[in-house]
Amino acid sequence: MPPTLLILNGPNLNLLGQREPAVYGSATLADVERLCAEAAAALGCQVECRQSNHEGELIDALQDAGRRVAAGTLLGVVFNPGAYTHTSVALHDAIKGAQVPVVEVHISNVHAREAFRHHSFVSPAAAGVVVGFGIDGYRLAVEGLVRQRRGAA
Ligand code: DQA
Repeated sequence: MPPTLLILNGPNLNLLGQREPAVYGSATLADVERLCAEAAAALGCQVECRQSNHEGELIDALQDAGRRVAAGTLLGVVFNPGAYTHTSVALHDAIKGAQVPVVEVHISNVHAREAFRHHSFVSPAAAGVVVGFGIDGYRLAVEGLVRQRRGAA
């Protein structure tokens, strides 16, 4: 089994392609997931992809990922928490509590947008953050996570 990464997308990212294309571009979530699979394959890894609009389901996914990282069956998580980035202490606690390596990704440059997007509850718990590179940020996150985890191994 090649090393596995979880690609986890939060609320409204299922609408990519139709949602505010001037901000998020025209690629769909399926395009993003394909891009991640290709980036992982180039590094000898594979991906599993999940998306949820529900905070609790994202927390369950992070806790499950933490158990799998501890068991050696998962490398870590590339996570776009969507708007929960800016609101969720629970996601922060889940990442810390589950001790799961997470690279946080945002398609848009959240720091160049509204003030309420400037703060992330996730970033202090993340192993790395990629912001503002469009969907190519997912590829950068996959590569960064694999390199960081291989360096740590
Ligand atoms: C986002 C940025 C968030 O502020 C927003 O709520 C999203 C998408 C991004 O990928 O740029 O849903 O995470």
